[in-house]
Amino acid sequence: MIECEGLVKIYKSDDLEVVALQGLNLNVQDGEMMAIIGNSGSGKSTLLNILGGLDRPSAGSVKVGPWDLLKITDDQLVEYKRDTVGFIWQNNARNLLPYLSAIENVEMPMMLSGRLDRAYAKQLLEWVGLKERMHNKLHQLSGGEQQRVAMAISLSNRPKLVLADEPTGSVDSRTSDLIMDIFRRLNRELGITIVIVTHDLSLAGKVDRVVAIRDGLTSTEFIKRNPNLDAAEAAVNNPIGNVHEEYVVVDRVGRLQIPKAYLTALQITDKASMEFDGERIIITPPKSLEG
Ligand SMILES: Nc1ncnc2c1ncn2[C@@H]1O[C@H](COP(=O)(O)OP(=O)(O)OP(=O)(O)O)[C@@H](O)[C@H]1O
Ligand SMILES: [Mg+2]
Repeated sequence: MIECEGLVKIYKSDDLEVVALQGLNLNVQDGEMMAIIGNSGSGKSTLLNILGGLDRPSAGSVKVGPWDLLKITDDQLVEYKRDTVGFIWQNNARNLLPYLSAIENVEMPMMLSGRLDRAYAKQLLEWVGLKERMHNKLHQLSGGEQQRVAMAISLSNRPKLVLADEPTGSVDSRTSDLIMDIFRRLNRELGITIVIVTHDLSLAGKVDRVVAIRDGLTSTEFIKRNPNLDAAEAAVNNPIGNVHEEYVVVDRVGRLQIPKAYLTALQITDKASMEFDGERIIITPPKSLEG
C-alpha cells in the first residue's frame, strides 16, 4: 500500500532550512493497521501530510497504491485525495465545521465531490457510535465525540487508506480505547489500511506493528509477537516490551541508527569500532590513539 524510500522533506523559509525527513524508508502492507511513534519534531506529521497528498516531498520516492506522489500532477493529486485516502488531522478544528451538525459534517465532503449518499453518512455515524447524536451541532458534542465525527468524515469518500495524526491526543484513556477499537473494526471488517501517528506508547499494544521515527529517519520497529493476541490481553503496563519484538531498522545500504542513550553511555561521538565475531556485531568506542 505504502512504499517510501529515501524520502526527504525540506522546509524552506527565507534563510532557514529545516530538514524534516532525511531519507526515510517505510513500507506498509495492504490491510495493515500500524502506528508511527516519535518525539515532537521528529517528522511524524510531515510524513503523514506527504502520504495524505497535503504536502509535496522534496526528494526520494513515495508510492501509495498505484500513485507516485513525487511525480503526481496537481489534477491527479485532487483525484488521489478524493478516492484513495482519508485524513484525520492533529488539530481537530481542521477536521470539523462547528456550526454544522454531525451528519452535515459527514455529508459535506460527499457534496463537495458530487457524491452525496445520506444513507452512508448515517451508517458511518452509527459505525462510530454516534447514532443518537447525529443531529447535534458540533459544539454540543464532547471532544471524544467530535473526534469520532472526524473519523466518520475521513471515511466519507470510502478510502482504502486512513491516516490519523494523534487521533487520541486530547481524550482520556477510556475514549482513546474506544477510538482504537473503532479503528480496529474498520480495519478488520472493511479492510481499510490504517496508519496512526501517536506519542502514546500505550496504543502500541493495539496495532500490529509500530515504527519509531527519530530525527526524520525510521530507527526502530516493533512487531507483535503474537498477531492473534487481543487488544484486551495486550493492554498491559509495558505494552511494547511485552507484546512486541523490537528490531533496529537497517536500510538498503546497511545503515542503522544507534540510540542516542547508547552513544552517550559509551561516549561515542563521531567514530566507533565495529567487530564481527561470527554471530554478533559489536560496536565499541574507538581505542584512544594516545594509548
Ligand atoms: N511548514 C513548516 N515550515 C517549516 N518547518 C516545518 C514546517 N512543518 C514542520 N516543520 C519542522 O519540521 C520538523 C518536523 O515537524 P513535524 O510537524 O513533522 O513533527 P511531529 O513529529 O509531527 O511533531 P509533534 O509530535 O509535535 O506533532 C520540525 O522541526 C518542525 O519545526
Ligand atoms: Mg505532529
